Amino acid sequence: MKEIIVTIDGPAGAGKTTVSRSLAERLGFRYIDTGALYRAVALAARRNRVQANDDTALAKICQNLELQYVRTENGLKLMSNGEDVTNKLRSPEITMLASAVSARSVVRQYLLDVQRAMGRQGGAVFEGRDMGTVVFPNAEVKFYLDASGKIRAKRRFLELQEKMGLSLEEVERDLTKRDNNDSTRTEAPLKPAADAIRIDSTDMKIDEVVSLMLDHIQHIQHN
Ligand code: DC
Repeated sequence: MKEIIVTIDGPAGAGKTTVSRSLAERLGFRYIDTGALYRAVALAARRNRVQANDDTALAKICQNLELQYVRTENGLKLMSNGEDVTNKLRSPEITMLASAVSARSVVRQYLLDVQRAMGRQGGAVFEGRDMGTVVFPNAEVKFYLDASGKIRAKRRFLELQEKMGLSLEEVERDLTKRDNNDSTRTEAPLKPAADAIRIDSTDMKIDEVVSLMLDHIQHIQHN
Protein backbone atom coordinates (compact mmCIF):
# COMPACT_ATOMS: atom_id res chain seq x y z
CA MET A 1 0.00 0.00 0.00
CA LYS A 2 1.39 3.38 -1.02
CA GLU A 3 2.02 5.70 1.95
CA ILE A 4 -0.83 8.05 1.16
CA ILE A 5 -2.81 10.50 3.31
CA VAL A 6 -6.46 9.69 3.93
CA THR A 7 -8.65 12.38 5.47
CA ILE A 8 -11.93 11.84 7.31
CA ASP A 9 -13.96 14.92 8.19
CA GLY A 10 -17.47 15.30 9.54
CA PRO A 11 -19.56 16.45 12.51
CA ALA A 12 -19.31 15.07 16.06
CA GLY A 13 -20.86 11.66 16.58
CA ALA A 14 -20.80 10.58 12.92
CA GLY A 15 -18.54 7.65 13.85
CA LYS A 16 -15.29 9.21 12.60
CA THR A 17 -13.08 8.02 15.46
CA THR A 18 -14.05 4.35 15.40
CA VAL A 19 -13.99 4.27 11.62
CA SER A 20 -10.67 6.12 11.33
CA ARG A 21 -8.98 3.89 13.89
CA SER A 22 -10.19 0.74 12.22
CA LEU A 23 -9.35 1.98 8.72
CA ALA A 24 -5.81 2.94 9.81
CA GLU A 25 -5.33 -0.51 11.30
CA ARG A 26 -6.52 -2.23 8.13
CA LEU A 27 -4.18 -0.10 6.01
CA GLY A 28 -1.23 -0.37 8.42
CA PHE A 29 -1.26 3.44 8.66
CA ARG A 30 -0.92 5.82 11.61
CA TYR A 31 -4.17 7.21 13.01
CA ILE A 32 -4.13 10.92 13.89
CA ASP A 33 -7.02 12.31 15.92
CA THR A 34 -6.77 16.08 15.32
CA GLY A 35 -9.72 16.91 17.61
CA ALA A 36 -7.51 15.76 20.50
CA LEU A 37 -4.96 18.43 19.52
CA TYR A 38 -7.63 21.15 19.88
CA ARG A 39 -8.69 19.55 23.15
CA ALA A 40 -5.08 19.63 24.40
CA VAL A 41 -4.89 23.37 23.63
CA ALA A 42 -8.20 23.80 25.52
CA LEU A 43 -6.79 21.89 28.51
CA ALA A 44 -3.67 24.07 28.57
CA ALA A 45 -5.87 27.19 28.31
CA ARG A 46 -8.04 26.09 31.20
CA ARG A 47 -5.11 25.23 33.40
CA ASN A 48 -3.68 28.69 32.76
CA ARG A 49 -7.09 30.32 33.29
CA VAL A 50 -7.06 31.71 29.75
CA GLN A 51 -10.37 32.74 28.17
CA ALA A 52 -11.22 31.36 24.73
CA ASN A 53 -11.37 34.86 23.21
CA ASP A 54 -8.01 36.09 24.57
CA ASP A 55 -5.87 35.73 21.44
CA THR A 56 -2.71 37.15 23.02
CA ALA A 57 -2.81 34.66 25.87
CA LEU A 58 -3.77 31.82 23.51
CA ALA A 59 -0.80 32.65 21.29
CA LYS A 60 1.48 32.40 24.31
CA ILE A 61 -0.03 29.04 25.29
CA CYS A 62 0.58 27.72 21.75
CA GLN A 63 4.14 29.03 21.66
CA ASN A 64 4.96 27.04 24.77
CA LEU A 65 3.12 23.88 23.81
CA GLU A 66 4.72 20.82 22.31
CA LEU A 67 2.22 18.19 21.19
CA GLN A 68 3.30 14.76 20.15
CA TYR A 69 1.66 11.40 19.52
CA VAL A 70 3.61 8.46 20.87
CA ARG A 71 2.92 4.80 20.35
CA THR A 72 2.98 2.78 23.58
CA GLU A 73 2.02 -0.80 24.36
CA ASN A 74 -1.30 0.59 25.66
CA GLY A 75 -2.07 2.33 22.38
CA LEU A 76 -1.47 5.80 21.01
CA LYS A 77 -0.91 8.52 23.62
CA LEU A 78 -1.03 12.28 23.20
CA MET A 79 1.82 13.98 25.05
CA SER A 80 1.49 17.66 25.90
CA ASN A 81 4.84 19.07 27.02
CA GLY A 82 5.84 15.55 28.01
CA GLU A 83 2.65 14.84 30.01
CA ASP A 84 0.27 12.11 28.89
CA VAL A 85 -3.04 13.99 28.54
CA THR A 86 -4.91 11.32 26.56
CA ASN A 87 -7.43 10.64 29.34
CA LYS A 88 -7.90 14.26 30.38
CA LEU A 89 -9.54 15.55 27.22
CA ARG A 90 -13.08 14.15 27.16
CA SER A 91 -15.00 16.08 29.83
CA PRO A 92 -17.98 18.16 28.61
CA GLU A 93 -16.13 21.31 29.75
CA ILE A 94 -12.98 20.62 27.71
CA THR A 95 -15.17 19.53 24.78
CA MET A 96 -16.94 22.91 24.66
CA LEU A 97 -13.73 24.85 25.28
CA ALA A 98 -12.03 22.94 22.44
CA SER A 99 -14.82 24.02 20.11
CA ALA A 100 -14.43 27.64 21.28
CA VAL A 101 -10.62 27.81 20.96
CA SER A 102 -10.80 26.06 17.58
CA ALA A 103 -12.56 29.14 16.18
CA ARG A 104 -9.49 31.30 16.95
CA SER A 105 -7.10 31.81 14.11
CA VAL A 106 -3.96 31.82 16.35
CA VAL A 107 -4.83 28.32 17.49
CA ARG A 108 -5.67 27.05 14.00
CA GLN A 109 -2.46 28.47 12.58
CA TYR A 110 -0.37 26.81 15.27
CA LEU A 111 -2.09 23.44 14.80
CA LEU A 112 -1.88 23.71 11.00
CA ASP A 113 1.90 23.43 11.26
CA VAL A 114 1.72 20.68 13.88
CA GLN A 115 -0.65 18.61 11.73
CA ARG A 116 1.28 19.09 8.50
CA ALA A 117 4.49 18.05 10.25
CA MET A 118 2.70 14.90 11.44
CA GLY A 119 1.60 14.19 7.87
CA ARG A 120 4.92 14.76 6.16
CA GLN A 121 5.92 11.13 6.00
CA GLY A 122 2.49 10.03 4.68
CA GLY A 123 0.88 6.71 5.60
CA ALA A 124 -1.74 8.21 7.90
CA VAL A 125 -5.47 8.56 8.42
CA PHE A 126 -6.24 12.09 9.67
CA GLU A 127 -9.57 12.61 11.41
CA GLY A 128 -10.99 16.10 11.98
CA ARG A 129 -13.13 18.91 10.57
CA ASP A 130 -10.89 20.61 7.98
CA MET A 131 -8.46 17.87 7.00
CA GLY A 132 -9.60 17.68 3.37
CA THR A 133 -10.40 21.37 2.95
CA VAL A 134 -7.49 23.18 4.64
CA VAL A 135 -4.79 21.01 6.20
CA PHE A 136 -4.32 18.45 3.41
CA PRO A 137 -6.04 19.85 0.32
CA ASN A 138 -3.93 17.49 -1.83
CA ALA A 139 -4.66 14.34 0.15
CA GLU A 140 -5.01 11.32 -2.13
CA VAL A 141 -8.31 10.18 -0.57
CA LYS A 142 -10.85 12.32 1.26
CA PHE A 143 -13.99 11.20 3.05
CA TYR A 144 -16.79 13.20 4.62
CA LEU A 145 -18.69 11.11 7.12
CA ASP A 146 -22.11 12.28 8.24
CA ALA A 147 -25.20 10.90 9.99
CA SER A 148 -28.56 12.25 11.11
CA GLY A 149 -28.52 14.56 14.16
CA LYS A 150 -30.67 12.14 16.17
CA ILE A 151 -28.43 9.13 15.61
CA ARG A 152 -25.27 11.15 16.29
CA ALA A 153 -26.66 12.34 19.63
CA LYS A 154 -27.70 8.78 20.51
CA ARG A 155 -24.26 7.37 19.70
CA ARG A 156 -22.51 10.07 21.68
CA PHE A 157 -24.94 9.52 24.57
CA LEU A 158 -24.19 5.79 24.71
CA GLU A 159 -20.47 6.55 24.58
CA LEU A 160 -20.57 9.11 27.41
CA GLN A 161 -23.29 7.54 29.56
CA GLU A 162 -21.08 5.44 31.78
CA LYS A 163 -18.43 8.10 32.27
CA MET A 164 -20.45 11.26 32.61
CA GLY A 165 -24.03 10.40 33.53
CA LEU A 166 -25.47 13.01 31.15
CA SER A 167 -29.04 12.75 29.83
CA LEU A 168 -29.77 12.22 26.13
CA GLU A 169 -31.24 15.74 26.00
CA GLU A 170 -28.07 17.27 27.45
CA VAL A 171 -25.88 15.38 24.99
CA GLU A 172 -28.13 16.42 22.10
CA ARG A 173 -28.08 20.07 23.20
CA ASP A 174 -24.26 20.14 23.49
CA LEU A 175 -23.85 18.41 20.14
CA THR A 176 -26.15 20.88 18.36
CA LYS A 177 -24.32 23.82 19.93
CA ARG A 178 -20.93 22.43 18.95
CA ASP A 179 -22.08 21.60 15.39
CA ASN A 180 -23.26 25.15 15.09
CA ASN A 181 -19.94 26.58 16.41
CA ASP A 182 -17.85 24.33 14.21
CA SER A 183 -19.74 24.89 10.98
CA THR A 184 -20.45 28.63 11.22
CA ARG A 185 -17.01 29.92 12.30
CA THR A 186 -15.21 32.00 9.69
CA GLU A 187 -11.93 30.16 9.97
CA ALA A 188 -11.91 26.67 8.36
CA PRO A 189 -15.57 25.85 9.06
CA LEU A 190 -16.73 22.24 8.94
CA LYS A 191 -17.76 21.46 5.36
CA PRO A 192 -17.08 18.71 2.86
CA ALA A 193 -14.16 19.27 0.46
CA ALA A 194 -15.39 19.54 -3.14
CA ASP A 195 -13.56 16.29 -3.98
CA ALA A 196 -14.55 14.38 -0.82
CA ILE A 197 -16.41 11.09 -1.00
CA ARG A 198 -19.50 11.56 1.14
CA ILE A 199 -20.79 8.72 3.28
CA ASP A 200 -23.95 8.82 5.39
CA SER A 201 -23.51 6.37 8.26
CA THR A 202 -27.03 6.76 9.72
CA ASP A 203 -28.10 3.24 8.74
CA MET A 204 -24.68 1.66 8.43
CA LYS A 205 -22.56 -0.44 10.76
CA ILE A 206 -18.94 0.54 11.41
CA ASP A 207 -17.65 -2.46 9.45
CA GLU A 208 -19.76 -1.51 6.46
CA VAL A 209 -18.40 2.03 6.46
CA VAL A 210 -14.81 0.78 6.73
CA SER A 211 -15.32 -1.73 3.88
CA LEU A 212 -16.82 0.95 1.69
CA MET A 213 -13.84 3.22 2.38
CA LEU A 214 -11.36 0.42 1.65
CA ASP A 215 -13.12 -0.21 -1.68
CA HIS A 216 -12.77 3.47 -2.58
CA ILE A 217 -9.10 3.54 -1.56
CA GLN A 218 -8.31 0.41 -3.58
CA HIS A 219 -10.13 1.81 -6.56
CA ILE A 220 -8.23 5.11 -6.36
CA GLN A 221 -4.88 3.34 -5.93
CA HIS A 222 -5.47 1.26 -9.05
CA ASN A 223 -6.40 4.18 -11.25
O1 DC B 1 -13.33 15.70 17.00
P1 DC B 1 -13.48 16.30 18.41
O2 DC B 1 -14.88 16.27 18.92
O3 DC B 1 -12.52 15.69 19.38
O4 DC B 1 -13.05 17.83 18.23
C1 DC B 1 -13.07 18.77 19.29
C2 DC B 1 -13.26 20.17 18.72
O5 DC B 1 -12.10 20.56 17.99
C3 DC B 1 -14.44 20.31 17.74
O6 DC B 1 -15.58 20.81 18.38
C4 DC B 1 -13.95 21.25 16.68
C5 DC B 1 -12.46 21.27 16.82
N1 DC B 1 -11.77 20.68 15.66
C6 DC B 1 -11.49 21.50 14.61
O7 DC B 1 -11.91 22.66 14.61
N2 DC B 1 -10.78 21.05 13.56
C7 DC B 1 -10.34 19.79 13.53
N3 DC B 1 -9.62 19.37 12.49
C8 DC B 1 -10.64 18.90 14.59
C9 DC B 1 -11.38 19.38 15.65
